[in-house]
Amino acid sequence: MPTRPKPKPAAIHPHLESVLFTEAQIKRRVRSIAQELKSTYGDGEFTIVSLINGAIMFTADLMREIDNPVRLDCIRTSSYGEKTKSVGTPQVVASLTLDIRNRHVLIIDDILDTGKTMKLVAGLVQKLHPASLRTCVLLDKVGRREVEFKADFVGFKIPDKFVIGYGLDFAERYRNLPCVGVLDPARIKSPA
Ligand code: IMP
Ligand code: MG
Repeated sequence: MPTRPKPKPAAIHPHLESVLFTEAQIKRRVRSIAQELKSTYGDGEFTIVSLINGAIMFTADLMREIDNPVRLDCIRTSSYGEKTKSVGTPQVVASLTLDIRNRHVLIIDDILDTGKTMKLVAGLVQKLHPASLRTCVLLDKVGRREVEFKADFVGFKIPDKFVIGYGLDFAERYRNLPCVGVLDPARIKSPA
């Protein structure tokens, strides 16, 4: 039998200054959030509203840890573009397609930063008269809040650093990194 080459250990991406959470740490935390959801929702159905693109990985992994009946819809808000700080007010650029009246709704995002995006989306969902509304984020930059917002489920609290990976991007890149890490500040000046 020919021997297969051993898989190389995943190298840290060269554009990362540091890794905050490894793939394994994220996986463990996602599992425990799923348990928190279970103790809140029991076996009942709920509707996930995922804020794309950033929450794509987190939503996909979290959904697979949940055995409740779930419905999925997405909302797209305007993005940072090639910047690392939000400027102005976010706008909804693609909204819900499912009817959420009288449904239990869980909004999922990758990260809570100023809080403006979640506040906007939660306000919009609330106007549609859900039976209940809760929010879940993988990361929370607690110190950056500009509008008051507290998520019901939080994966990790993080310091005020621009992070990438596991769905989070800089100028649409790095979403596919399996870990979450701090972007090398040199890349922010020259993203090419
Ligand atoms: P907020 O409206 O300022 O709370 O920003 C929320 C959105 O900004 C998130 O959905 C992310 O898409 C994006 N964002 C905030 N901080 C970061 C970061 O450190 N890396 C990548 N995207 C971020
Ligand atoms: Mg986002």
